[in-house]
Amino acid sequence: MERVSGCVLVVLAFFTRLAYSEDYFRMGTNTNTAEAVQFLREYDREASGMCYRVTMSQWKFVTNITEYNRRRMLEELALSSKFERLSWRKAAAYDSTRLPDPQNRRQLVKIVQSSRAALPDEKFSEIQQLITEMKEIYNSAKICPYGQKPYDPHVPRPPTYPDYQQMQSYQPTMQSYQHYQANQDNPELANYCDMQLDPEISRILAHSRIESELLYVWKSFRDKTGPKLKNRFMRYVQLANQAAVATGYRDAGDQMRAAYEDSSFRASVEEIYNQVVPLYKQLFTYVRRKLVQRYGETSVRSDGPIPAHLLGNMWAQNWKSIMDLVMPFPQSSNIDVTAEMLRQGFTPLRMFQMAEEFYTSMGLKPVPPEFWRGSMLVRPAQRSVQCTASAWDFCNRIDYRIKQCTEVTMQDLISTHHEMAHVQYYLQYADQPQMFRDGANPAFHEAVANAVTLSVYNLPHLQRVGLYQNKSHDPYEVSMNFLMTMALEKVAYLPFAFMVDQWRWSVFEDGVQNMNTRWWQMKLRYQGVVPPISRSEADFDPGSKYHIISDQEYIKYFLATILEFQIFEQLCIASGHTGHLHECDVYRSRDAGRVLSDMMQPGSSKPASEIIRAMTKGKTNRISPESLVKYFRPLELWLRVQNRDEPLIGWSSNYHDVALFAPQRGASGNTYISLSLLSTTVLHHLL
Ligand SMILES: *[C@@H]1O[C@H](CO)[C@@H](O)[C@H](O)[C@H]1NC(C)=O
Ligand SMILES: *[C@@H]1O[C@H](CO)[C@@H](O)[C@H](O)[C@H]1NC(C)=O
Ligand SMILES: *[C@@H]1O[C@H](CO)[C@@H](O)[C@H](O)[C@H]1NC(C)=O
Ligand SMILES: [Zn+2]
Repeated sequence: MERVSGCVLVVLAFFTRLAYSEDYFRMGTNTNTAEAVQFLREYDREASGMCYRVTMSQWKFVTNITEYNRRRMLEELALSSKFERLSWRKAAAYDSTRLPDPQNRRQLVKIVQSSRAALPDEKFSEIQQLITEMKEIYNSAKICPYGQKPYDPHVPRPPTYPDYQQMQSYQPTMQSYQHYQANQDNPELANYCDMQLDPEISRILAHSRIESELLYVWKSFRDKTGPKLKNRFMRYVQLANQAAVATGYRDAGDQMRAAYEDSSFRASVEEIYNQVVPLYKQLFTYVRRKLVQRYGETSVRSDGPIPAHLLGNMWAQNWKSIMDLVMPFPQSSNIDVTAEMLRQGFTPLRMFQMAEEFYTSMGLKPVPPEFWRGSMLVRPAQRSVQCTASAWDFCNRIDYRIKQCTEVTMQDLISTHHEMAHVQYYLQYADQPQMFRDGANPAFHEAVANAVTLSVYNLPHLQRVGLYQNKSHDPYEVSMNFLMTMALEKVAYLPFAFMVDQWRWSVFEDGVQNMNTRWWQMKLRYQGVVPPISRSEADFDPGSKYHIISDQEYIKYFLATILEFQIFEQLCIASGHTGHLHECDVYRSRDAGRVLSDMMQPGSSKPASEIIRAMTKGKTNRISPESLVKYFRPLELWLRVQNRDEPLIGWSSNYHDVALFAPQRGASGNTYISLSLLSTTVLHHLL
């Protein structure tokens, strides 16, 4: 998942689950409906079995990283890919419009349209191979520490880091320093340039306030990813488009959007974006002033866009790490119950039991015994594992697990509830056919999981479960601090989550020329950020974002963030809550539980519009940002007061901003041309 909450929703490679829309696809000609129904029955059984084997092999690998487990997993993935192509060919032969049962029709269409199997075998393998390579390049990107030359045994100490001792949370420096010391006697083993995005680089961006260091890691990570990925990405665009056209779509973006079953999808999404812009601009303007105070007017113009490296995050998508710079009431408290959890002797197991009880208190399902037997709730001592939190459905209606290297912190307590929500969703739709065991559209899983966590990271709830006592702080100030934390995570994220696929769709639609310029045009237009140094088409900054090069659509995260508040408000209405939305806790409300289970049980067997209509008791069938705006209303009022003397709410860009990423002309134009020629050559070679 997009790391808003640090979770990965596991979706199988062979169920790419891209597309669905009945009006597009050129159907097959076989009109034997009995045969088609028989095929679907067999498919359901075989696909579940295949899904189980692949998922199990992936689980074994990520919870026990060995070469043997990696090979086994790749073998299973190859088998499932073969199965996908075979099933696709069988399914595509039928004329689905002849099937009398709409559920059967929907399944058949989903099998056919959710795939790139329309490509010839060699191209199908090629695009899969390209995606694998791009992920490997991305995951192996490493940079040298700031201010360090690669290891030199004659230097007894690393050159001093700017005030690292003062910065307690400044672990990368300490780590590199300890690493350096550990390897001092062994120059051969010393490899200094081993800082990865997660955790070292991300930590620097989150905690360092030294501009030159932020710039260094921001640029270095892009240097190690973009240029190596660019040619592969261009070929990927070509193949993805061919697959889409062969399946009956205009281009690959069109195929990705079809999963939303909304013929005016682009307009709907844009309308939602426009409705949250006023709130974003208030937040943006306030944050910019604080950054001007911290870094000075030479770094941040007081009416301009914000340089992208100062917001605490590699992509300027989540600003919660700069809370220390923007906290509304620094003398008042920020909610953190970690110390209280430690004082009360919490353990990871107890955190999971508490999360389970949250759901059963609402009349929802307990997790089965297999969950407790199979899950990995803490980092195991003796083996190497991937620690990203994730929830797993093994497709056999028996095994559900969570993998999380849980530590006793408030962050992990929230994450535990979030992952448990995914498991609850799995349990609720378990009786659907395999094809429908999924969210109503790609945004639903994350939206539901986050909607529930809005009721957990929540003052009244933390008081109710005995983790928070108000310590004579002004409740208004505590609330504003809390809402600011939420806004830095959710509101700041919206323009980013919106622009990623605007860019991707434009590349699928209009081609790959000036890709990097177009990326920054959109960053500026929607997010109001500019690169801290000048960029060219030799750079490929979209390649610094994993979801771009790993072929994962992104608009779902935008919609999920909107939808989570819409769902949350419906749960609150059902529970009888009155008063501010951010103070609503649905714990122990069976009526709220019923709203949730009614949403979850159908899986993707019904269009999302029907589910939203049922959830809102007929009020609307669309995703709407009204609840999000309502939730942040108290903060927005406060921000308006803070911003009342600002000359400009939002940003205006000038020539210098745009020149940072404009397409080169004149002398540098030659560079651009020769680079694009180079790309063409490589492309032909790949063909
Ligand atoms: C880890 O995988 C290896 C195979 O590579 C296996 O022999 C070993 O038993 C596994 N360890 C655990 C704890 O599952
Ligand atoms: C503490 O909490 C109680 C009830 O939640 C509230 O009535 C009271 O005003 C709070 N006291 C302070 C000083 O914040
Ligand atoms: C949603 O409802 C409106 C009218 O209430 C209707 O015109 C529209 O077709 C519905 N959309 C979907 C996707 O069902
Ligand atoms: Zn999640």
